[in-house]
Amino acid sequence: MPTPIAQGLKGIVAGESKITKVDWEKSALYFRGYNVRELIEYSSFEEVFWLLAHGELPKPINREWLSQELKRQRKITNGELRALLDNAFINQPMLALALFVAKRGVLRLPVQTTKELPQRATVLGTELCAAFPTVIANLIHWGCAPPRFRMDPTKNSYHIVQPHSDLSHAANFLWMLNAKLVTKKRPDDTPYELYEGEYPTSFEEKAMDTTLILHADHEFNASTYALRTAASTQADPFHCILVTLGALSGPKHGGANEMAMHIFEDIRKPERAAQWVVDRLINKQERAFGFGHRLYKKRDPRTQILKRLGKELCRRKHLPWYDIAREVEKTTLAILKQRGHEDLPANVDFYSPCVFSALGIPSQYMPLVFAMARIAGWTAHMKEQYEQNTLIRPLSAYMGPAPRPYSK
Ligand code: ACO
Repeated sequence: MPTPIAQGLKGIVAGESKITKVDWEKSALYFRGYNVRELIEYSSFEEVFWLLAHGELPKPINREWLSQELKRQRKITNGELRALLDNAFINQPMLALALFVAKRGVLRLPVQTTKELPQRATVLGTELCAAFPTVIANLIHWGCAPPRFRMDPTKNSYHIVQPHSDLSHAANFLWMLNAKLVTKKRPDDTPYELYEGEYPTSFEEKAMDTTLILHADHEFNASTYALRTAASTQADPFHCILVTLGALSGPKHGGANEMAMHIFEDIRKPERAAQWVVDRLINKQERAFGFGHRLYKKRDPRTQILKRLGKELCRRKHLPWYDIAREVEKTTLAILKQRGHEDLPANVDFYSPCVFSALGIPSQYMPLVFAMARIAGWTAHMKEQYEQNTLIRPLSAYMGPAPRPYSK
């Protein structure tokens, strides 16, 4: 039996994959052989979803089919949303997203034969890719609105933001996110309220699309590996998604963007940043959220792109987050260097909060938007794992007491 112990599977190649290549030495990222820099320039998130899930860029007929399919499945029923909002998971939005997945899952027939699994993975991935933006936009509206705005008294129900039927994936999400509650009048002059969407600018649409592509996949990261572990047991795709959402939520992984945003919000002004960082990193010995990566030791290729976008969006919206982030980055890197760590660059989660916040996404919901993008990679990995079909089951090095006689 092999015995070397790799805590946290550090440096272990745990399986083969044809989906994503991370070239950490050159700080480059490839999906199915295409550099992500080219994908953000020439493709949309929808096309990248297809590429990851099916292995090739879509032909016009595939593109049209996927676009129609995503639009068709955007709408979710008031009953489904009501069930989420009734449960008021305001402090745990990722659990609300998981609840949505679980509620859909309990209404479906279980898989009959394991041969169906790869196909089911793609079908569910497409369905959730379409539905997540609607769920997340509604959770945000509900979570952030003052209580009097939440209910529609005429229907004894919640005000619900419905998707646009014709916008791109990115534009539709922003359209729902920035919707405003407006008062209208019926023919008999009685007033009623509804959410009316707001069109994003083309720059905002492109920024959202780029951010979704940059988050779409990242080989065997923690949530994807958790998903692959579940898929390796031939668990139903719904279960795999529930597992992966839980793993994504942690602050060492997809929850780091929220942690970084809390830091910026706490600092409030760029001139307070240096002292704040010194206090937390040196005096309180805290971890710097948004810094360090298991693979990238020099540069995370996603960070530079998000940094540029965050800068431009914060300037346009007169938000202080980018200037604060720059100061935090400078002081953090200097402190880490003093500690002998020149290998902990700002990662994808450090500047993404500047982009997300400028697009209207509150800190608590940033990990959900990460999930909205990563569903593309999860779909591809679930399918690949089902097709490879080797159970993931490592060994542990037992360090507990030696066998001993039973005694109370
Ligand atoms: N702040 C301070 N020190 C750090 C940080 C950090 N963010 N990250 C690593 N270190 C230090 C550790 O203290 C340790 O130091 P030592 O060797 O002197 O004891 C060394 O670097 C190695 O740290 P590990 O935690 O063992 O490294 P690992 O590869 O397991 O961690 C991780 C990677 C989890 C991303 C880590 O860098 C971290 O916690 N970063 C902050 C959270 C974060 O931003 N997560 C998002 C990552 S990107 C993503 O998942 C989408």
